[in-house]
Amino acid sequence: MVDNLIILETPEALAERVAGDFAQLVNEALAKQDRFSIALAGGQTPKQFYERLAKAPYVSSIPWSRLWFFWGDERCVPKEHPDSNFHMAAEALLQYVPVPPAHVMRMHGEDPPAQAAAEYEKSMRGFFRESGFWPSFDLILLGLGPDGHTASLIPGSPAVTNHVSENLEERRQLQTGEGEAPQPRWVVHNVIRALQTVRLTFTYPVINHAKSIWFLVTGAKKTQAFAEVQKGPNPNSPASLVQPVNGTMKWYIDKEVVYGRSKDPSSEERAPVSQRRDGRSGQ
Ligand code: 6PG
Repeated sequence: MVDNLIILETPEALAERVAGDFAQLVNEALAKQDRFSIALAGGQTPKQFYERLAKAPYVSSIPWSRLWFFWGDERCVPKEHPDSNFHMAAEALLQYVPVPPAHVMRMHGEDPPAQAAAEYEKSMRGFFRESGFWPSFDLILLGLGPDGHTASLIPGSPAVTNHVSENLEERRQLQTGEGEAPQPRWVVHNVIRALQTVRLTFTYPVINHAKSIWFLVTGAKKTQAFAEVQKGPNPNSPASLVQPVNGTMKWYIDKEVVYGRSKDPSSEERAPVSQRRDGRSGQ
């Protein structure tokens, strides 16, 4: 189910490869257009990629002043908070590169969540006013949580269940010609009961309308979650519902994601999850 799968030896090799591919994608896009829009992800794996970009040659070879930075999700905390995805990207990358401050469009995690989501959506609608019904990011970066979440689309949370029911409603309307189309939202505050928290997140159609979607995933903790994604779309595996409309999707993963924890290369546990007959994850 996952095409465009790029498997790297280590997290460091993954960061190196993604940095090279990113420089190429940016340069190719900027040969045809004035600006490049990217939505960043939180998490340890994207962080290693940002840290790589902050070093030679990328720190000086990428035309940073033509890039515009957004976030696909954010914690409801102030921007200096260690849990802030903005804070992480600022520490790992943005403080080192000449990006104009006006090009850094952070989610305001310190504001009341519903207001922060609505205001972020408004600023995105301003930026993408020529894109049509949905924005078309040049690149959206995503991680994968051990529970299958991506961005802040957590299993069982409203942003996931609403997406599933909106799709069903759309299908019903197409068949019956009745009903009203749901009001499309670009950004929502997602109440996550399991974690007793609220997060700000892009909705699925925003992600699915990007020109490029790149998942960056490392570590044996993700083996099972990645195996679920490979089985195809399923609401219990929110990352599996990311399905590009016109763009392309790539999965950059390291060997631990594929093989799980086992150290013994001859053991069955070393076989890629998709090749195991019993479907066990090795975790
Ligand atoms: C966040 C994220 C989240 C993350 C994954 C993977 O705010 O935490 O945006 O979706 O990307 O949980 O994170 P790791 O790479 O740290 O496992």
